[in-house]
This record gives sequence, structure tokens and C-alpha cells, in this order.
Amino acid sequence: MTNSNTHTDEKKLDSSIVPALLNWYDHNARILPWRSEPSPYRVWISEIMLQQTRVEAVKPYYDRFMEALPDVKALAEVEEEKLLKLWEGLGYYNRARNLKRAAETVMEEFGGKIPENYEGLLSLKGIGEYTAGAIASIALKIPVPAVDGNVMRVVARLLACGDDVLKVSTKRWMTKAVASIIPKERPGDFNQALMELGAVVCLPNGAPLCEKCPWDTVCKAHYQDREQEFPYKQPKKSRKIQKKAVYLLEYENRFALRKRPESGLLAGLWEFPTFDCGQQGDNVDKILDNSVESSENVDKIGTGKHIFSHIEWHMTGYYILLQKKLKSDSLIWVTKEELEQEYAVPSAFAFMKDFLYKQ
Ligand code: ADE
Repeated sequence: MTNSNTHTDEKKLDSSIVPALLNWYDHNARILPWRSEPSPYRVWISEIMLQQTRVEAVKPYYDRFMEALPDVKALAEVEEEKLLKLWEGLGYYNRARNLKRAAETVMEEFGGKIPENYEGLLSLKGIGEYTAGAIASIALKIPVPAVDGNVMRVVARLLACGDDVLKVSTKRWMTKAVASIIPKERPGDFNQALMELGAVVCLPNGAPLCEKCPWDTVCKAHYQDREQEFPYKQPKKSRKIQKKAVYLLEYENRFALRKRPESGLLAGLWEFPTFDCGQQGDNVDKILDNSVESSENVDKIGTGKHIFSHIEWHMTGYYILLQKKLKSDSLIWVTKEELEQEYAVPSAFAFMKDFLYKQ
């Protein structure tokens, strides 16, 4: 599909549509933990967790996180390993590391108080335009937009606009259009209403619930019966597939973990020793130090797939009960309980843990 709408007049929103949206939100807003007490800290944590993760999946993590780290000071001071453990399962661990760095900046440069303006928020690590807009509008009632993928889908359909929503230029004009209709008295509710509409009514993948939409009479895509055509996204190149062999090595009731390199995928996190297939012979032998007498001691325990943005890992897991302690300095040896309670192993390796805990 090509741009079906390049005339600038058609890229504007009219504030007369706002009351119907707010009225809908008043009657349909989900009860979410961060909505009951929207302080800058609570909104910030919720918005970072909600990046790339669904509301329902975030809820239990959110409550646990707030209990463990109730304020910026606690976040700034937490040990990274504990923070990553709290984050385990949410994925995209740099979000957690950035939270801590930003909290340290708040303690060191802002006297322990989260900045109360858009630019100050934007200056913090991990806070981009969307998150700064969300915190400023929801917690501080500042009338700035917060445009995420959900909001872009709503706007694309509302205006029946075929611009590529993955393009920066599209986000820019949509942000301007949304900014032009933010009601000064309820900016946070307005932004959340738009996100909520995208999350529960204006659903992606051809399944919008238009009969429940407060904007059904003003939506151009609905009027033209073309909801399925929007939002338009230029098809992505297919992901590269990497085959990996992952080893659960056991010696005297302890299991081997190793830190991943400080850069690249899952940087700096704990893993079960993982090797690219093709080279695994060499690498595994180096680690195993001739401890495995024969291939009969190697059991295949399952397979796992993990999807990153540009790469897929197709993993095969193996279990080896070692007869001899390995010399490798890169490995640590932990009990099942330590693994469960202290070490954040990314969900890419969930299939290995499933095997371990079933034993
Ligand atoms: N997605 C991200 N932030 C949200 C919020 N505050 N409300 C609903 N959905 C969201």
C-alpha cells in the first residue's frame, strides 16, 4: 500500500472529539496499580515496564518491584544483581539497568527528587519522548503528548492515513496532531485514554472492536470500512536464525552458570553455557576439559526458541552429569535454590530451567 493521504489538512485532529474519549475513559479505564497513586516514581516504573510488555504481564512484577524498591533512593542503591532478579522474566534487561542509572542521577544531580518538567525527565537515562510525556502528563498534569504504538494505530485509523508508522516523520506529525488537542485540565487522563483505546478497543491485527469505540462516528477508516488497512508498516526484513547449543552441566548437585559478554545480546546476564552450533565441538571441549568420557553421558533435554528484534536463537539443550570438577574460571557453580533466588537468567533459557526444576 502507498500513502493514501499526504494532504496536510488530513493530518490534523479536531478537539471536538476529546469529550467522547474522556467520557469513555471515565467509564472504561482499567484499574491498574500505578493508576491509584500516580506519583512520578510509580508512573515512571510502570511506563518502563510497559515498554514491550503487556499490561497483564506487568502487573505482578510491578507490585513486587514497588514493595522491594519503593522509592528512587532504594532504586539508586539496589545491587544490580538484585535488580535484575526483580526484572527476571520481563526481558530487555537494559531497561532495568537504565532505571538504576537514572535513579543515581536523580540522587546525585537532582537532590533525590525526580525532575518535575518534561526536559528534566527527558535528560534521564532510558527516558525518551514517550516516557517523559507519560510521566509529565500523568503524574505532573503537564499537557504534553505521549505517543506510543497503540496511539499511532488509533490516529492512523482515525485519519485513514497510510503513512508508514515505523517512520520517524510519521511519529512526528502524529505527535503534533495529538499535542494540538490535549485538554489542559486532564492531560494524563487524555493520554492514558488514547493508549487504553488502542490497547482494548482499537486492537491491532485486523481485530478492532469498533462497536465499542467512542470515536466510531468520526473514524475515517471505520467509515470507509478499511480498518484492516491501518496502521501501515513497511514489511521488515526477515530475522537471521542462529542455532545454539546450551549446556546444563551438573557437578555434585551444583549447576554451571556463566556471565555473558558485556556487549551484545543479553549482555552481562547469567546463562547456561551456550555455544554457536558448528563451533560447539571446540568450545565445549575447552570448557569441559575432557571431563566427559563419552557422548553417552550427554542427554538432549529439549529445544527452545528466543526471538530478538533482528535475530532468532534456535536452541537445543543438553544435560551433562560431570564426573570431574571443571577448571574453567568463567563458570560459577550454584545450587537449584541459589539459581531460583539469586541469579537472573533470561527467559531465553526458560526451557532449560523447566527441565532442571522438573528433576
Ligand atoms: N501502556 C503504556 N502505558 C500505559 C498506561 N498508562 N495506560 C494504559 N496502557 C499503557
